[in-house]
Amino acid sequence: MDNHRTIPLLVDVDTGIDDSLALLYLMASPEAEILGITCTAGNVNARQVATNNLAWLELCDYADVEVALGAEVPVLQPLVTTEETHGPQGIGYAELPAPTRRISDRHATQVWIEAARSRPGEITGLVTGPLTNLALAIKLEPELPLLLNRLVVMGGVFNHAGNTRPTTEWNISVDPDAAKIVFDAFSVLPPERRPVICALDVTERIAMTPAHVAALGRAAGSTPEESLSLDDPPGTRSRGSNAVVRHLSDAVRFYMEFHRAYDQGGYVAHMHDPFAAAVALDPSLATTRPATVDVELAGTITRGQTVADWLGMWGRPANADIVVDTDPEEFFRRTIERVGALARRVG
Ligand code: RIB
Ligand code: CA
Repeated sequence: MDNHRTIPLLVDVDTGIDDSLALLYLMASPEAEILGITCTAGNVNARQVATNNLAWLELCDYADVEVALGAEVPVLQPLVTTEETHGPQGIGYAELPAPTRRISDRHATQVWIEAARSRPGEITGLVTGPLTNLALAIKLEPELPLLLNRLVVMGGVFNHAGNTRPTTEWNISVDPDAAKIVFDAFSVLPPERRPVICALDVTERIAMTPAHVAALGRAAGSTPEESLSLDDPPGTRSRGSNAVVRHLSDAVRFYMEFHRAYDQGGYVAHMHDPFAAAVALDPSLATTRPATVDVELAGTITRGQTVADWLGMWGRPANADIVVDTDPEEFFRRTIERVGALARRVG
């Protein structure tokens, strides 16, 4: 990969514990040119998402990026949040210093549309939450899919169990109507610019363990060693000397406790969003397979299900490149190296 090429990004998140890790990964990556961070309701309400984003940016001395508020409710159905998964503020047990900056006066859709029009064909869009803001932006600017260079989405589940209902994944289930608008709108793109979909099928194979947290702490020079254990009393806090490591550890611990409590893989934290961020910066991390993706909206028990037509049975061209394989250890090598160095830099 060209070591000097920067990648202009628009990032839409519902921060969230793993959204936080995605932001850390991007801030730690010199090739990432973050043009704006937009906030959608999902894991927690959109205003809390915005506060979390501002706080992580300031903690990492990355404070000059615009953070814009977007949709506070889905396009049609009522908002459902998941504080039980991500904590009351959406960042687990982490208690970040309150941000001093305000959110932007621009709406999220303005940020996406104006940036895409100003740099046609250059920008990679990354969405790690519900697709509400992107759907609204498309309604205002139907050319948006053609104005972006690429779109990477964390969302959906195909040949794998759902994490929200038996056949649905959280981001899509929060706003399935928005997801359908997006998948339909991006059906016009040529094969080389199809959206890349990071679904649970692969992201649930990328599980951060206490050993990964300890390795990241060491890379940052934080002491004492981060030693998360399922035997710790719930809510144990990190005593790490490095602030980024301490807050990351406190955030991830909540996620690990959740996954163990709900039998979703044990005392681990699935790297849904940071994996999508890593793919946005380097698509070669992912092995993909094209398919026609559509979203079930009328099913009584399946509303929000993402369906992949791998074999062209619907007679419609493929509109997505679905990630079917990756190397989790390469992802963790890059994460520990990059976020560890960022943490060491900002202390
Ligand atoms: O299903 C996982 C996704 O839902 C992740 O983006 C997580 O942050 C939640 O938003
Ligand atoms: Ca998310």
